[in-house]
Amino acid sequence: AMSGAALATGGSTLAAARAAAQGSDLSFPKDFLWGCATAAYQIEGAVKEDGRGQTNWDVFSHTPGKVANGDTGDVACDSYHRYKDDIALLQNLGVKAYRMSIAWSRIFPEGRGKPNQKGIDYYNRVIDALLAAGIQPNVTMFHWDLPQALPGGWQNRDTAKAFADYAGFMAGKLSDRVHRFMTVNELRCFTDLGHMVGTHAPGLKLPQGQVNQVRHHGCLAHGLGVQAIRANAKAGTEVGIADNANIYVPVIETPEHIEATKKAMRDDNAMFLTAVMEGKYLDSYLSAAGQDAPKVQAGDMAAIGSPLDFVALNIYTPTFVKANANDPRGYTPLPHLPQSPRMASPWLYVGPEAAYWGVRAVSELWKPKAIYISENGTSADDPLNSAGTVDDGDRIMYLRNYLGQFRRAAAEGYPLKGYFLWSLMDNFEWADGYGKRFGIHYVDFATQKRTPKLSAQWYKELIRRNALV
Ligand code: NOJ
Repeated sequence: AMSGAALATGGSTLAAARAAAQGSDLSFPKDFLWGCATAAYQIEGAVKEDGRGQTNWDVFSHTPGKVANGDTGDVACDSYHRYKDDIALLQNLGVKAYRMSIAWSRIFPEGRGKPNQKGIDYYNRVIDALLAAGIQPNVTMFHWDLPQALPGGWQNRDTAKAFADYAGFMAGKLSDRVHRFMTVNELRCFTDLGHMVGTHAPGLKLPQGQVNQVRHHGCLAHGLGVQAIRANAKAGTEVGIADNANIYVPVIETPEHIEATKKAMRDDNAMFLTAVMEGKYLDSYLSAAGQDAPKVQAGDMAAIGSPLDFVALNIYTPTFVKANANDPRGYTPLPHLPQSPRMASPWLYVGPEAAYWGVRAVSELWKPKAIYISENGTSADDPLNSAGTVDDGDRIMYLRNYLGQFRRAAAEGYPLKGYFLWSLMDNFEWADGYGKRFGIHYVDFATQKRTPKLSAQWYKELIRRNALV
């Protein structure tokens, strides 16, 4: 509340005092890395151009009934041709960084073998244009578009080796200009959704033992990838993973519920991030899996646990959890309820506390040197209005709340170094096709016109102030 004396100091002083207070109360650390994220198959299109090989997502999206509306990534945002427009959008926002992925099949159309120079040239053009615009490229090596020619896909452990060869090759080509690489994106999605749930490419519903083996190959690809990138990249290149570990949130911030949160996070990610950070599978996971436990060869776990320069997290939704002495695990997750708040995607439950607790739990469990948020954002149904804009107040609401919790984590000293908003623009949202829009720029897919949404203006102002607005 304003005292009479403060009011008496006059408007401009008051504004200055408010600004100063906001700066100290709401600011992010100096040099915080603001960015936006996209992925190759979701934006590039040009799936048959310049020697690109076919991928599992080309096959899957062209299989009737697999993707909403029969949508495919054939054209997507046409970023293969319009990347300069996209970079102009980034520049206008004032972001310092862009998280993009490389389409493996543009580099090695068959997944391995002879490299395709035209594919390499494309990423050189994009990266050089980003650097010329003062934007730091952060590159994900695998964001789900797997070369179809690799026999058996992720069911075959040779795919992990092929990935490492490709990732090492690209690191050698790019590390003179790209200083941060992420190996794979979201272990749980490209393994489980593709091979257990069947809603993503290649659309399989395998028995549990085979699912666990696919998961192991995913982890192994990451681990061998880290080693190959380090062996081929310039000294000082940072290597990490972009993972969507399931994030738990204590129902009450007391020591017992906080302990329950960390235990739940470690257990539930045992076959993914926990294995990556600890270089082993938890005994509890292995004994619960029994005969279905993954077959592990000598050296696999050391590779999987290769030291990382950072951990990057894709954070969208929380699972609330309580300590419970009557539960053999010592905790009980609370189920989402029909009335639990969510955004346009049915899985996207709202819980900004996931932002704070994701960073804090990962930090306390595994002490990574640095944490980046490789994705956070939301789908929202706001239409293009008659004035030609999208007033996505619900997206701003979502982002403001999550960023407040990320800010809390940074302010408390957890090593959070940057944030990539998903997404720069509406794009091919996998099995949801173009029906779910995550962009802060609206894309008219008939004309390819990009229009900033209100959330783009909001993000720009936040970046300008380096503070929550
Ligand atoms: C996770 C994925 O990495 C990205 O490709 C996807 O579009 C977003 N989250 C939203 O679902």
